[in-house]
Amino acid sequence: MDNTPVLEWIANASDGRKVTLAQLLVYELRVRDAMHKDPVTARPSDSLRSIQNLMKTHRISGVPITQDAQLLGIISIEDIINALDKGHINEPSDKWMTSTPVTLRDHYTLVRAVAEFDRHGFGRFPVLDACERLVGIITRGDISNALVHHLEKRAEEAVAHEAVLVAERQADEKVQRVVLRTPIKSGDFDSAGRVSQRMREVLRERGIDPDARRRAAIVAYEAETNIIIHSIGGELRAVIEMERVTIDAIDQGPGIEKVELAMEEGWSTAGPMARQLGFGAGMGLPNMKKCSDRFEVRSELGIGTHLHAEIDLKKAESKT
Ligand SMILES: Nc1ncnc2c1ncn2[C@@H]1O[C@H](COP(=O)(O)OP(=O)(O)OP(=O)(O)O)[C@@H](O)[C@H]1O
Ligand SMILES: [Mg+2]
Repeated sequence: MDNTPVLEWIANASDGRKVTLAQLLVYELRVRDAMHKDPVTARPSDSLRSIQNLMKTHRISGVPITQDAQLLGIISIEDIINALDKGHINEPSDKWMTSTPVTLRDHYTLVRAVAEFDRHGFGRFPVLDACERLVGIITRGDISNALVHHLEKRAEEAVAHEAVLVAERQADEKVQRVVLRTPIKSGDFDSAGRVSQRMREVLRERGIDPDARRRAAIVAYEAETNIIIHSIGGELRAVIEMERVTIDAIDQGPGIEKVELAMEEGWSTAGPMARQLGFGAGMGLPNMKKCSDRFEVRSELGIGTHLHAEIDLKKAESKT
């Protein structure tokens, strides 16, 4: 992955609206799917010289300093170069480490991770689990490796599915309309993504163009997370017809004060808890709009929000 701000890359795909599989994957994959597990670490009393040796042996450019799995700081290759320069290479690492480094959580989505890389410009982030234990380290390279790995996996699955698909496609023509609906509870991150996932399955079985499938999935996913994070609860409904998917996300408040403002890129009221979980870049609504053919948000303070999106479908071109 190069240094283009990745969020920009996600938002502005080639023709402004197409969503590639890689772009969808960064929503689905988590930091724990991409990070390097069991990172090489050093103790606070270890000298910078010994850490330099560790870096050489393991061909790494950053070493977290830990005590009993608790992260105390990080020493980067830049710190080592400085130490050599200034003559303190034999001093203990805790004297020169960056203490309280910026960390990521293992459950963050990769979208959030790439946003953090863009925001801070660091080469790596230590990764902590829910108990604040150091469980990994992640670089931009790890993210692109994970994407390539999963793309390959998806490609293999696609080939395996192809034969089955042709037969199922004809049978599916008869089932005109599928309705998926699920209640959504505020704060319930764990069960997020069910409608989105089932919808993608149905669209895939129907032989719908992958780009339309992914756009629909992003709309459903973002709409659902907004209900989880910003509302007191609601419902997500997807109606799949042959020519379009209609997604309605309806919640019971608190409503959005200024919808035009909420539609702006980067505008967010997400609290620290939601941000910790990897949300709150303020890109959800703008992305949903970009991914939809028709999009409308109606909201009334104290009453609730109704988000309506339609995505036109077309069949994938057959590759015979
Ligand atoms: N269902 C909702 N109920 C109340 N407020 C909402 C709802 N959906 C969105 N908002 C408001 O609109 C803002 C922008 O939403 P958007 O989805 O664009 O960004 P976000 O959810 O804050 O961050 P991201 O989606 O990038 O994780 C939110 O921060 C919130 O203030
Ligand atoms: Mg959102």
